[in-house]
Amino acid sequence: MTFEPNTIVLGDCMELMPALPDQAFPCVLTDIPYGAVNNMSEERVCYSNAIRPGMFKGAADVTTFALDDFLPEITRVAAGGVFIFCSIEQSATIFGYYRDHPDFMVRNCVWTKANPSPVMGQYTFLSTVEMCVFAKRRETPFHYSCAPAAWSHPVARSQRHPTQKPVGLFRYLLESVTEPGDTVFDPCIGSGTTAVAALMAGRKYFGYELNPEYHQIALERVAAQGEDLFALAGVPENPSARLEPLGVLS
Ligand SMILES: C[S@@+](CC[C@H](N)C(=O)[O-])C[C@H]1O[C@@H](n2cnc3c(N)ncnc32)[C@H](O)[C@@H]1O
Repeated sequence: MTFEPNTIVLGDCMELMPALPDQAFPCVLTDIPYGAVNNMSEERVCYSNAIRPGMFKGAADVTTFALDDFLPEITRVAAGGVFIFCSIEQSATIFGYYRDHPDFMVRNCVWTKANPSPVMGQYTFLSTVEMCVFAKRRETPFHYSCAPAAWSHPVARSQRHPTQKPVGLFRYLLESVTEPGDTVFDPCIGSGTTAVAALMAGRKYFGYELNPEYHQIALERVAAQGEDLFALAGVPENPSARLEPLGVLS
């Protein structure tokens, strides 16, 4: 079975990904649940039974799969670059997986939040960094020569998802390994940030989301972005609005 570009499917990525073709996507860009990783696949947290009913913020971050199952599957469908936003604990496992993979090179990267939340600021340093492991098939072109692995960008404004990532950052990342018209895959797409970023960059998207409320929000954000792009058709892009690597943004 193949897939329909510019679609977000409601469902469990672990059940749906096996139907995808090998190396179907030039870029996988995802932001997995950061919750404690359960390495026993038979003990996967059942989202519908354990989390529902009663939506609460933490549900967005509950791990519903074992990395040992997830990583081989996204690697199989990745033809080029793989970005995985994750917790520090998860990053060690993800980095090790790609370090040991003969076809990939890997880098630990960080997103530094230009406008961090002041929570606990009177007791300790602010929480200003999030981890992202970047791996790419060795032959994949990389468009940003000598770009640093630390990316400064503000947190997303007007959040509709508890762990929503900034569109500008995702656009910057997906453009590093894709060409216009390529399809970017996000198996845990949440409120659709990857899809919106892909559309802004003239790429396509494909994704899965387990939670019906987030799935609906993703569809709404994509629809709104489509209207914006239609309205802007023919208007040249403002290059100064593009994200630059850490050190260029103040
Ligand atoms: C960290 S959030 C992603 C947020 C997203 N980057 C955004 O900007 O909105 C992870 C998402 O993965 C979803 N998720 C968790 N397990 C999943 C699974 N097995 N299949 C598909 N989606 C899943 C959660 O419901 C959650 O919305």
